[in-house]
Amino acid sequence: MASEDVESAVQAALEQAEREFLEQRAARADSVTDLDADPDERAVEAALRPRSMDEVIGQERVREQLSLVLDAARSRGRTADHVLLSGPPGLGKTTLAMIIASEMSAPLRLTSGPAITHAGDLAAILSGLNEGDVLFVDEIHRMSRPAEEMLYLAMEDFRVDVVIGKGPGATAIPLEIPPFTLVGATTRAGLLPGPLRDRFGFTGHLEFYAAADLDLIVQRSAGLLEVGTVPEGTAEIALRSRGTPRIANRLLRRVRDYAQVRADGIVTRDVARRALELFEVDETGLDRLDRAVLDALCRRFGGGPVGLSTLAVAVGEERETVEEVAEPFLVRTGMLARTPRGRVATPAAWTHLGLAVPASSPFSDHGTLFGDGEPTG
Ligand SMILES: Nc1ncnc2c1ncn2[C@@H]1O[C@H](COP(=O)(O)OP(=O)(O)OP(=O)(O)O)[C@@H](O)[C@H]1O
Ligand SMILES: [Mg+2]
Repeated sequence: MASEDVESAVQAALEQAEREFLEQRAARADSVTDLDADPDERAVEAALRPRSMDEVIGQERVREQLSLVLDAARSRGRTADHVLLSGPPGLGKTTLAMIIASEMSAPLRLTSGPAITHAGDLAAILSGLNEGDVLFVDEIHRMSRPAEEMLYLAMEDFRVDVVIGKGPGATAIPLEIPPFTLVGATTRAGLLPGPLRDRFGFTGHLEFYAAADLDLIVQRSAGLLEVGTVPEGTAEIALRSRGTPRIANRLLRRVRDYAQVRADGIVTRDVARRALELFEVDETGLDRLDRAVLDALCRRFGGGPVGLSTLAVAVGEERETVEEVAEPFLVRTGMLARTPRGRVATPAAWTHLGLAVPASSPFSDHGTLFGDGEPTG
């Protein structure tokens, strides 16, 4: 064997070993673009969270609207209106809730919809509030119905009716509660009952972030984590972060690992590309689940239309996971469309999978899908 051959064989073996190491590590972690944060990750996230409105990157519209609402309340010396923050996971709802409290110099009380199973749980929380407190209810769409009803009253009249006893002898005792600001967060604003939604004075819809903003977020986080980067490296991470700061921060940490094990610790474009390829995040930010959904849609169902439940079964996932995690991004990138008759792959999906767009694609006949919404079946 020529010496270059030996050298490249050794190099290949080394690369293989390191690849296996990183693969095992990747397999232990959940998918790198999984939207939920586990407890360890929450701790890291807390360290990376912007603490004031000025530190928040992107979301100009919501930031400006919210600043106005808070400034106005402050100048009137009143508690701020109730705020609903809606949008896909990882875009900054919790971050903004914390900032609202800090901008109002008010204590933040935290709870979540699933934690409030009985109206009594909510009554206890509400009656413990002090004037001006900010009560943050995460996943507010998952509260029980009786608790929801109690919350409307509390939001509007700053009063709750505590029911004592049962049956015909039960009596409702009204209890005054001090003015407070409710901040609700939801990934599914559509699931909130109208009366609850209407009682929020301001609703902020968080949008997916532009790559330029994500780049700034990655740079900021890299600074806090003391990771060396070059502009092409952070830009590459930003492009693959699906418009989501949580994912940007997570990809940054994985790329940092890779940079430390396989390179000289600096996040360059090449390092970012190789790391993200290993973690199965492609150039557009699609991960394994996204690709599985597109794959099933195109290869198994001929591009659709296919119902959400069928699609979920085909990829072995919960309906909600497909709907809340994969679909918003696929719709946003224009690869999947939701139509009255089911999910449909767009030409961009076929192209992304490296397949030819079939002549029978539903997109070859827009009228039947989008025309008047009437099934032509
Ligand atoms: N505008 C932003 N600028 C900088 N970092 C951000 C911004 N928005 C979010 N982040 C970062 O993204 C992470 C996730 O944000 P956050 O926890 O607020 O999302 P969320 O919308 O509450 O998600 P979930 O729906 O899962 O509760 C945070 O650690 C924060 O550091
Ligand atoms: Mg949150």
